[in-house]
Amino acid sequence: MNYIDALKQRYSVKKFNKEIPVSRENLSPILEAGKLAASSLGLQPYRILVVESSEIKEKLIPAFGNPSQISTCSHLIVLISRKNIEAHYLDGYFKHITEVRKTPPEILAGFRNSIDHHLVNLQKKELESWAEKQTYIVLGNLMFAAALEKVDSCPMEGFDAELMAEILDIDSEKEKVCVTLALGYRADDDFFKTLEKVRKPDEKLFKFL
Ligand SMILES: Cc1cc2nc3c(=O)[nH]c(=O)nc-3n(C[C@H](O)[C@H](O)[C@H](O)COP(=O)(O)O)c2cc1C
Repeated sequence: MNYIDALKQRYSVKKFNKEIPVSRENLSPILEAGKLAASSLGLQPYRILVVESSEIKEKLIPAFGNPSQISTCSHLIVLISRKNIEAHYLDGYFKHITEVRKTPPEILAGFRNSIDHHLVNLQKKELESWAEKQTYIVLGNLMFAAALEKVDSCPMEGFDAELMAEILDIDSEKEKVCVTLALGYRADDDFFKTLEKVRKPDEKLFKFL
């Protein structure tokens, strides 16, 4: 399928068909697309939880206020953003670059200094917001890839983040439940599947300079 057709077919599903799970084979390229997302400075200030356990999905339903997506989806992807970038996190990142690219640490020293300088100048809230922005790029990749794989999805940020953190055992001092993506296949009786897309007309959205 052409990718524009895939994006036109995609919509935010409200009710999935509970009987059809997403196979590992179909899930794997979607997750790979999330992994390949670009991130500022390459720091990937996030983690990706893939909830496939029915018991855990069940426990999460109240945190979303009982929407049909969570009770019917096959998988719930939970994107967790970092609240801080500690020195040990940067150490791990640079060790990894050296291993993968065989770049001598002395060549990377200037890059490390520029990152240290950049991060040190960010306020706590700015750093959290920066990490969340990177996390939303992952969300975009996941949604796009899911559409191409003909897997349906619904992005969701309408949840109680603290309750989610408690259920998923996230340390709220260090990380934040940022946004989620429910995956599955649209239910035949999902009313939303019949609706037209509502998008701004080109002249309001685009400006060529
Ligand atoms: C970051 C983000 C968060 C969203 N959160 C929710 C949500 O909590 N619940 C929901 O039903 N839809 C949610 N949506 C879906 C939007 O309402 C939907 O994308 C928008 O209305 C456009 O419709 P479409 O995705 O079907 O084209 C969210 C979308 C995005 C991108």
